[in-house]
Amino acid sequence: MPDPGPAGAHGAHESGGRRLTTNRAAVGHRVGYAVRHPERVPRHLVRAGRDAWLRMRHPDHVAYYRAVMRHDTSRGADAAVGSGTREGWLRLGAMQFDYLVSHGLRPGDRMLEIGCGNLRAGWRFIDYLETGNYYGIDISPDILIAAQDTLARQRLQHKLPRLTPVRDLRFAFLPEAHFRVVHAHSVFSHSPLHVIDECLAHVGRVLTPDGWFDFTFDRTEGTEHHVLREDFYYRTQTLVALAQAHGLRARFMDDWEALPHGQSKLRVTLAR
Ligand SMILES: C[S@@+](CC[C@H](N)C(=O)[O-])C[C@H]1O[C@@H](n2cnc3c(N)ncnc32)[C@H](O)[C@@H]1O
Repeated sequence: MPDPGPAGAHGAHESGGRRLTTNRAAVGHRVGYAVRHPERVPRHLVRAGRDAWLRMRHPDHVAYYRAVMRHDTSRGADAAVGSGTREGWLRLGAMQFDYLVSHGLRPGDRMLEIGCGNLRAGWRFIDYLETGNYYGIDISPDILIAAQDTLARQRLQHKLPRLTPVRDLRFAFLPEAHFRVVHAHSVFSHSPLHVIDECLAHVGRVLTPDGWFDFTFDRTEGTEHHVLREDFYYRTQTLVALAQAHGLRARFMDDWEALPHGQSKLRVTLAR
């Protein structure tokens, strides 16, 4: 993966070659990066300007990120979820789908996708699962409109998926012990710890006893840091401990590391 640099494009994690100890927020790294890639500096400055403006207008992270998505989606939904090309969009969706099917996702399962975006993987899950068994949520109404376009393009209207905007990750409107699979791809890589904490505090309630929750994250083995308010890097142990604090067990998915994707994956199950 090309180093995403000081303002790594959100979702730009589609190839391998991570540097797990780099602190992208450190001044030394930023200066060195600018010297090595002067052509990327103007783009970073534009992103930093947008970040400052949106942070001022939206101190709350979810409102901030919704505004980021509104801006990005207006320029193209595929790029807004991190795919620069249609081929890349298709490839990354297939990777998520194939992985979950190889881990036992069955057509009769009920699935919740957190941060479903424009259904890059979602349309494949909708196609595979029985009618009505897919539930996608996202904080961005704009990307959910784009998700409807994907659904129509793939001619999957008859599968009647739910696509719902949310303000938080408390799942208060969803039934208890309902979903066997919960999936969040490239969502916590854009989330501060309190958002992840909220999700882990509540996801156990909606999981079936044999269910699992897979999420990807940007892993660091050095200092935890973030780039603007868009890209967050965590140590595995931080997220494992957070899951444990909410009565969940988290397992690092080694087989995901072999895939050409820049993020790592944890699987959370009920501890009891
Ligand atoms: C990089 S995109 C990935 C979309 C989709 N998971 C995929 O792989 O194509 C991240 C998505 O997560 C959504 N998102 C970010 N923070 C969220 C949150 N706290 N709750 C729900 N959705 C969120 C964004 O609006 C965006 O659609």
